[in-house]
Amino acid sequence: MTVTKNLFGQMPSGENVNSYTLSNGNMSVKIIEFGARISKLIYDGVSVVCGFDTMDGYLKDGDYHGSIVGRYANRIFEGKFKIDDKEYSVSNNEKGRYHLHGGYCGFSGKLWTYEDSKEESSYSSLTLKYISVDGEEGYPGTLTVHVTYTLTKDNALSISYSAVSDKDTIINLTNHSYFSLSGVGNTILDHKLKMYCDDYIPVDEKLIPFGNYAEVSGTPFDFRKEKTIGRDIEAEDPQLKTGGGYDHCFVRDKGENKKKPELIASITSPVTGIKMDILTTEGGIQMYTGNFMTAENPFFERYPQMKNQAVALECNRIPDSPNHEAFPSCIFRAGEEYTQTTIYSFNK
Ligand code: BGC
Repeated sequence: MTVTKNLFGQMPSGENVNSYTLSNGNMSVKIIEFGARISKLIYDGVSVVCGFDTMDGYLKDGDYHGSIVGRYANRIFEGKFKIDDKEYSVSNNEKGRYHLHGGYCGFSGKLWTYEDSKEESSYSSLTLKYISVDGEEGYPGTLTVHVTYTLTKDNALSISYSAVSDKDTIINLTNHSYFSLSGVGNTILDHKLKMYCDDYIPVDEKLIPFGNYAEVSGTPFDFRKEKTIGRDIEAEDPQLKTGGGYDHCFVRDKGENKKKPELIASITSPVTGIKMDILTTEGGIQMYTGNFMTAENPFFERYPQMKNQAVALECNRIPDSPNHEAFPSCIFRAGEEYTQTTIYSFNK
């Protein structure tokens, strides 16, 4: 199996941005050094992840397409949190009041560096690295992050993360790909989804968690029995009105992490028959149904962006958890390793 390197484009500062395409013949994944993003994923001839063909597309993008998001994915209320008794303030890049996806220029906006790649008979892989310096966006500690993308011969894309800081800090990483299993340019409202999540996290009108778990049972958030994403998306539910659709963290076992990746969700397109299983060590999965997807920045410079055209299924910790006792801790002590493995496995 192969890894092919190409020049993708340039950063505004003039540095080159390379792409690396992992391929097994039937599936290929193109990753760019800008934001360590999945820029294109083709399975069985169908392009199933939204992206852009040029750096210009990515530089205009405000929706984190395909990127690795960090140091803390999703929102932190007023950008404030405490570790022990010390208070920290990180950038409030959303409406000047909230921290979102790592700040003004989080990991999604950084140029990652090549670390390693492998071409084996059963898989090919790419490891990228980013060093986030002490104080970047307000976070304590210099954090060294490695992300390895591995494509197997049986069409599974695994994303393994590891990160270590030299001071106590908070860490919550994810991949922010938007999937459309009918092919980019179509809707996801007809996709059938099953999630192994008994609870979800209700949010206020700023999309910040109140701090409690809510049972999905008897609500539009119950995907424990497979149903289409669109079936209940317009239901009279204040939580759905808040987000203009689904924009919530679904939780397995109260957000507890697993030692090995376990199945958390499966999603199928009725048009192509493509099914994607998601396995993860994370206890949460943020489902964002592209409710604000109206940017005038066509995917692959051809497909106009439209609401509900794709769905992000981001495996991570619970949003704003540093500010809520009930949620598992995201604090990592100096020298303590953060790890995550998430697998997107395709079949038909
Ligand atoms: C969040 C959304 C946000 C989107 C793009 C998602 O992870 O849940 O609220 O609009 O990312 O920033």
